[in-house]
Amino acid sequence: MKSGEIRDSFLKFFEGKGHKIVPSSPVVPYDDPTLLFTNAGMNQFKDVFLGRGTREYSRATDTQKCIRAGGKHNDLEEVGMDGFHHTFFEMLGNWSFGDYYKDEAIVWAWELLTDIWKLPKDKLWASVFETDDEAFEIWKTKTDINPNHILRFGEKDNFWEMGDTGPCGPCSEIHIDLTKDGCRPEDINAGLEEVIEIWNLVFIQYNRKKDGELELLPKKHVDTGMGFERVVRVLQNKKSNYETDIFFPLIEKISSITGKQYEGENVSSMNAIADHIRALSFAIADGAVPSNEGRGYVLRRILRRASRLARKLDYNNPILFSLVDTLSENFGDVFPELIQKKDFVKEIVKAEEENFHKTLDRGIILFNEVCSTLKDTKIFPGSEAFKLYDTFGFPLDLTEVMARESGFKVDTLKFEEEMEKQKARAKSARKEHSSEVDFTHTNLKGKDDVVYDPYNATEDGIKAVVLDAQSSSNEGEIVVSINKNPFYSESGGQISDVGKIVTHSGSALSVINSGKNYVIVKGDKSLLNEGSEIIAKVDMQRRDAIERNHTATHLVHEALRRVLGSHVKQVGSLVSDEYLRFDFPHFHKLESAQIKDIEEIVNGKIEEKIAVQTLEDIPIEEANKIPNVKQLFGEKYGSKVRVVIVDENFSAEFCGGTHVQSSEKIGLFKITKEESIAAGTRRIFARTGKGIFTFLSEKIRETEKVISELPEKYTGNVSAIIPGFTELLKSSDPNDLLLVKTLLKTQEKTSMNAHEAREKYLEDKKLLEKQMLSLGIEKIREDIDNLITSSPKVADSLVVTGRLHLPKGSGIKEAGEELRKKLTRGAALVAAISDEKFNLICAVSDDLVKSKDLNAGQLVSDAARELGGGGGGRPNLATAGAKDISKLDSVLLDFSDRIKKLLT
Ligand code: ALA
Repeated sequence: MKSGEIRDSFLKFFEGKGHKIVPSSPVVPYDDPTLLFTNAGMNQFKDVFLGRGTREYSRATDTQKCIRAGGKHNDLEEVGMDGFHHTFFEMLGNWSFGDYYKDEAIVWAWELLTDIWKLPKDKLWASVFETDDEAFEIWKTKTDINPNHILRFGEKDNFWEMGDTGPCGPCSEIHIDLTKDGCRPEDINAGLEEVIEIWNLVFIQYNRKKDGELELLPKKHVDTGMGFERVVRVLQNKKSNYETDIFFPLIEKISSITGKQYEGENVSSMNAIADHIRALSFAIADGAVPSNEGRGYVLRRILRRASRLARKLDYNNPILFSLVDTLSENFGDVFPELIQKKDFVKEIVKAEEENFHKTLDRGIILFNEVCSTLKDTKIFPGSEAFKLYDTFGFPLDLTEVMARESGFKVDTLKFEEEMEKQKARAKSARKEHSSEVDFTHTNLKGKDDVVYDPYNATEDGIKAVVLDAQSSSNEGEIVVSINKNPFYSESGGQISDVGKIVTHSGSALSVINSGKNYVIVKGDKSLLNEGSEIIAKVDMQRRDAIERNHTATHLVHEALRRVLGSHVKQVGSLVSDEYLRFDFPHFHKLESAQIKDIEEIVNGKIEEKIAVQTLEDIPIEEANKIPNVKQLFGEKYGSKVRVVIVDENFSAEFCGGTHVQSSEKIGLFKITKEESIAAGTRRIFARTGKGIFTFLSEKIRETEKVISELPEKYTGNVSAIIPGFTELLKSSDPNDLLLVKTLLKTQEKTSMNAHEAREKYLEDKKLLEKQMLSLGIEKIREDIDNLITSSPKVADSLVVTGRLHLPKGSGIKEAGEELRKKLTRGAALVAAISDEKFNLICAVSDDLVKSKDLNAGQLVSDAARELGGGGGGRPNLATAGAKDISKLDSVLLDFSDRIKKLLT
């Protein structure tokens, strides 16, 4: 049987048992922040299991696209190591929602496997949860499985959970023995290539809560998952999943591109590449893009892993993108999105591969260089692994694989430490908008009874009753449940509302954040007794500003499509009271004429005063019939959706957010910035209404400041000067304004006219940019700071040794000056390494030059000699060129020994 026929026969079998065949949900879940990717067939039915949603059917069957490459279920490392683990796979499933239970689930599974597919009964084994006598008895009495083949296992193998929280329950797995001589009971669940699990029947009856407790669900359900690729391997009688017709066309393509045979060491690389391009293509087609965070980063890691494996096949060019055609030819009939999004997927994959190849070459040089300095250790330093990650974008697992190949092990603890440090730096740099929700320790009463209705919030507030209030682990904050919650909870890019809770006695507590069924409040907890009446007041001025930006987001989405093309779609957005941000796939910088066109379209729609229509809770089938409706990441709320329409011929989107009543309310729309955030992905920032005023007045203030600081001669005659500089004054970069000032001074000195001064400015700016780029002085400063803070002190003086990685063009002099400046008391020998050069810098503080007779010129020339180079300089700062990097560590060590001795 071909794989397509196997899939069909599964679905038809369950259709014959009263199941509705439903489509796979997208592999990128839209509305479940607990999940990176769809990781099981049951994800789309989570709400039904929890009793929060319903479907029109009580039995369903499908094939679900799944990715297990992050989070609780993560098989990434296994892929390529064996023939049956995948990052992307199809899970065939059948479900009962409070309908049939263990009996039918087991008996039908047995019937399909042995009657329809004719698998040999004596090769099948069943496992049940250790205390599940019921399932054990059903296997024993209602099927003709060999009773010795029914085994009991504990929680690890036979209690299935979707994630850290969510629906779960005991399960019964079916395993197949593919060995020649027959397997033993202890071979089940032992991870053997020839004794594998093919089907998992889960009897869902609990919800795992955040505090870890199990809560009994209102009804019992069946959730099954069969590994499609595995069962195809069994039925096609192959040794590995990769030899089936699911993967083989991809393997053949890889083989023909690389010119390598599918044999020996090549097998695992080819397998992993074939696996990875599937995960990438399906995820990108469903709306994810490679990036530096969250699921985007998982994709980036997968791509980089595959890209590197291609190099192992001696193929050093982008290859993955050329496999997308083969994939869509083979799977487009079942998953039409692969055909619809084919060109887009190819473009994204190719751009990402090209980017990676560039950094890979440089990273490999650094990696080898580090390895060559590691003498008596088998540990690859975590700080170097971090540098590879940070500067060259090497995912840790990639460095680990490369280290393993060279006989090293990465110090991952140190790596994590560096990562934490960087995160802390990023956090302190980030402006915090509102308190982060720490909800892990609360177990709020009445949480499930909260009526969430942000759509009818009013200026006067909504009367509500406190159900519970608990102190949060963030000091001074309280988590409160109220029976009616008008505060919008961050979702679909729109930020949460803030506002007030006013108590019966008139005290007001500020609401700083909101979830659907709780709000976070600052103030006195004793004012919020259970049962007390309060008024929940959303900050409506802020909300209005958010709504203007949200409706404008829908408008600009469509305007972008009309101006740039239909490939534009939202891949991320942020809607706040201050501005809106919108990310979309596009390969070119937006030209100013395009920006103008986009703004004109949106402003035109604002002027038309269009009433915004909202269709609440309409069946998804009906919603899909709305012409050009935008369904961002596929179905979100099961079978019912909410659609927001601004002019039927212009914009209709699935959306849970809040909007202005008429487009007129937006006032005005302006794009304030446009940039690239990843290969092939652009981001725009825009403002509306009063926000534009705020934006412009900030700009004007900056300009005025510059003008007020202009040489006096010009202050009375600004307009004569400004026209030549309008471009600069439009710039949001304060450095530009400073430069204008400098240039005006030049103009004054040299008596150039405005035009000449502008020309000169542009020239200087270019030069400066070039220099700034080549020096990367900021980075150097930071690296020097790090070197200095991590250096030992001996008798109050610092002894600094280490490496600096200089960006291209080298800035050896500047780096030396920096080092010298920062080294208030001490001596330093630092290797400054760039793509082209290997230099040494030695600096000595003046007091040591005097008191210890140290001479940087002498020190550096001694060191450089050891490394096949030479140089010299002043007693307090000197540089030298060097060649042989392999001895660097011992030279640095000698230096620090020598200085330490001198100091003590
Ligand atoms: N949800 C079950 C699994 O993923 C069937 O194994």
